[in-house]
Amino acid sequence: MGKKQLLLLLHFVFFIKLISLQPISTTEFIFNTFNSSNLTLHGDTTLDEEHNILTLTNNSAFTMGRAFYTSKVPTRTPNTSKIISFYTSFIFSMTPVKGSLPGHGLVFLFSPFATIEGGSSAQNLGLFNITNDRNKDNHVLGVEFDVFENQEFSDIDKNHVGVDVNSLTSVVAHSAGYWDDVKVDKFKSLKLNNGVNYQVWIDYQDSLLNVTMAVAGMTRPKKPLISNSLNLSAVFLDEMYVGFSAATGRLVETHRILAWCFSNTDFLIGDRLVTSNLPSFLPPGTSVFATKRFIIGMSVAIVLFICCALLMCVLLIKRRRKMKRDLEAMEEWELEYWPHRISYQEVYTATKGFSDENVIGVGGNGKVYKGVLVGGVEVAVKRISHETEEGMREFLAEVSSLGRLKHRNLVGFRGWCKRERGGLILIYDYMENGSLDKWVFECDESVMLGWKDRVRVLKTVAEGVLYLHEGWESRVLHRDIKASNVLLDRDMHGRLGDFGLARMHGHGLAAGTTRVVGTAGYIAPEVVRSGRASALTDVFGFGVLILEVVCGRRPIEDGKPPLVDWIWGLMEKGKLLNALDENLKAKGGFDSDEVEWVLHLGLLCAYPDPRTRPTMRQVLQVLDGTPNTDESEGEGMEVGLLEKMKSSTMWSKYRRGSHQGAHPTFEQIRHSISSSISLSGSDIIMEGR
Ligand SMILES: *[C@@H]1O[C@H](CO)[C@@H](O)[C@H](O)[C@H]1NC(C)=O
Ligand SMILES: *[C@@H]1O[C@H](CO)[C@@H](O)[C@H](O)[C@H]1NC(C)=O
Ligand SMILES: *[C@@H]1O[C@H](CO)[C@@H](O)[C@H](O)[C@H]1NC(C)=O
Ligand SMILES: *[C@@H]1O[C@H](CO)[C@@H](O)[C@H](O)[C@H]1NC(C)=O
Ligand SMILES: *[C@@H]1O[C@H](CO)[C@@H](O)[C@H](O)[C@H]1NC(C)=O
Ligand SMILES: *[C@@H]1O[C@H](CO)[C@@H](O)[C@H](O)[C@H]1NC(C)=O
Ligand SMILES: *[C@@H]1O[C@H](CO)[C@@H](O)[C@H](O)[C@H]1NC(C)=O
Repeated sequence: MGKKQLLLLLHFVFFIKLISLQPISTTEFIFNTFNSSNLTLHGDTTLDEEHNILTLTNNSAFTMGRAFYTSKVPTRTPNTSKIISFYTSFIFSMTPVKGSLPGHGLVFLFSPFATIEGGSSAQNLGLFNITNDRNKDNHVLGVEFDVFENQEFSDIDKNHVGVDVNSLTSVVAHSAGYWDDVKVDKFKSLKLNNGVNYQVWIDYQDSLLNVTMAVAGMTRPKKPLISNSLNLSAVFLDEMYVGFSAATGRLVETHRILAWCFSNTDFLIGDRLVTSNLPSFLPPGTSVFATKRFIIGMSVAIVLFICCALLMCVLLIKRRRKMKRDLEAMEEWELEYWPHRISYQEVYTATKGFSDENVIGVGGNGKVYKGVLVGGVEVAVKRISHETEEGMREFLAEVSSLGRLKHRNLVGFRGWCKRERGGLILIYDYMENGSLDKWVFECDESVMLGWKDRVRVLKTVAEGVLYLHEGWESRVLHRDIKASNVLLDRDMHGRLGDFGLARMHGHGLAAGTTRVVGTAGYIAPEVVRSGRASALTDVFGFGVLILEVVCGRRPIEDGKPPLVDWIWGLMEKGKLLNALDENLKAKGGFDSDEVEWVLHLGLLCAYPDPRTRPTMRQVLQVLDGTPNTDESEGEGMEVGLLEKMKSSTMWSKYRRGSHQGAHPTFEQIRHSISSSISLSGSDIIMEGR
């Protein structure tokens, strides 16, 4: 072997090596805006660079067009069977042309030549002609979006996606659409040529070809529409042209490509297509509202709506009837007592639909709302939670009668109505200044009631209680006299409210009941023991009210002795004045004698033995003896009246024994009473708050 030949061999080996070492070239491009210098256009294809629209066919019959990326892309490792992966995505829009039935479709394709040669229009999609279809030498891979069902090519329907290898007879096809990400078995159809912009993803890797589509702007569905194993080593050449083809026939539609990207390496290249601000090609007049889906959806919605409306009507009428029946049933025995029924609607409007901002208080039975009735009348609306039918009838009978109670020291009762779901709504006059407790306990110095105001309020409340006890044809027991049930009107006069717990009894009849109503701390001992209430138990409550108002202390407070016991103790030690509200002491404006005397009255009313307590009439007589704060400002108490009271029979009862040095202690009295009053056999239920 000569030197020359050796050199040649070496050269050859080096050459071979060079070639085999050559890295596989790859291609990647993204056209969110098309540039004519990067595309070759064939047939009737046009590029509108201004609007960035690549139109593959024009609006006439039997046209076709193709667009290719200018350069070939590597598709196969040279002279091997190894196919290079590719990932491509594009956005297309197919729009029917007015006056023509729509056809035929577009194809994404790999082709050895960047020409239109070998293609023909109509059902051939510009891809093949009658002679070269099925020819293995075509070296063409296409993914068709076909809107014509062609028997010749065994098309599955007239809205399908298919994979074409050298032939328009697809190796695999599926109706256009996508699989739901959540319910993977749920297929959602898409109509190819309704003008909607669709994004398509076509991937080939490891002999698997995947085709996915969705409405442009959606995230890529996880499950591909078509996933098909495909050996392309005999189809692809080492390098191929890649692009689009489309055709019309007698059927005409516009085929547009709006964006396109391609990569041999980047599976996620499709994410880089811009899907916002795309032009819209929805046919005028039809628009999104005319899509089949929309029409079906709308129809279903309308039918459902009508059904619902009808159902609601039926239910409403039924309920109305039932409510009417209920109300009518009640009216017979109801109206004769008290006709002031207010419609639920009126109350609902007055309280702005029982809105939270209207809540002015929360009682044991329910919330209290402020309301404004038509005409501007302010009212307090109390919602009583659900009661049994029986309980409600009983309650209404009493309450409706109470509605006729009218006194300037009682909170006016305006009316009632039934709640929609059972229970009652009671409507009272609105009291501007709220309840007394807010003016006495733990309140700001600026709003705290002075001594004279407190006495005046007590007097007005006493008048209210007396009216309940004696001013009406039947005796009404309030049963729950306490500071929070005393409301103050515009003129700061006390008004007794909340008859919710009151029960009526005929005059002179012993009030028998098995339920103890009232609030702990205000309930007379005999009620707890026997469950029996009388006018004198109201006096007890009023006594506690006097004491709490004078002392500025609630009857029961944590860590302190009960109010009555404590004051009694002070009285025994002769330090009664110590009980006076500290804040009042600081504020001044009171007469010590008067304070002591009012405290005595409170103790007398709250005396454990009911027989020792005064009646409300007596109480009021005594209170009337107090200086009228409105007329005789600062005059102090007339000594004569005090003397008169002290010498009265009730006072002597209270004082009995103390002058003889044998006044029993509070405990002794309580003990003697508990043994003298036997417990009733019936259940005692406490209704505390
Ligand atoms: C197209 O590409 C050429 C060359 O790169 C450039 O000069 C031209 O501005 C581009 N046109 C558009 C519309 O991007
Ligand atoms: C588009 O064409 C221009 C001019 O021929 C070229 O410089 C550019 O690289 C091409 N772009 C792509 C993505 O091929
Ligand atoms: C469409 O293409 C055909 C064939 O090239 C041509 O005769 C016709 O004028 C074109 N129509 C339009 C609207 O451009
Ligand atoms: C590939 O094969 C063709 C013909 O079979 C040949 O012309 C070409 O040189 C080969 N290329 C390489 C890189 O081997
Ligand atoms: C089909 O295309 C081939 C080229 O691929 C061409 O030779 C042939 O004449 C065409 N046949 C018809 C019927 O147009
Ligand atoms: C094609 O789809 C199958 C099934 O979802 C998946 O396993 C595979 O990774 C996908 N291949 C590509 C290249 O997307
Ligand atoms: C594809 O087909 C060729 C023969 O045409 C074969 O050599 C090759 O192994 C096949 N590839 C795969 C992945 O099946």
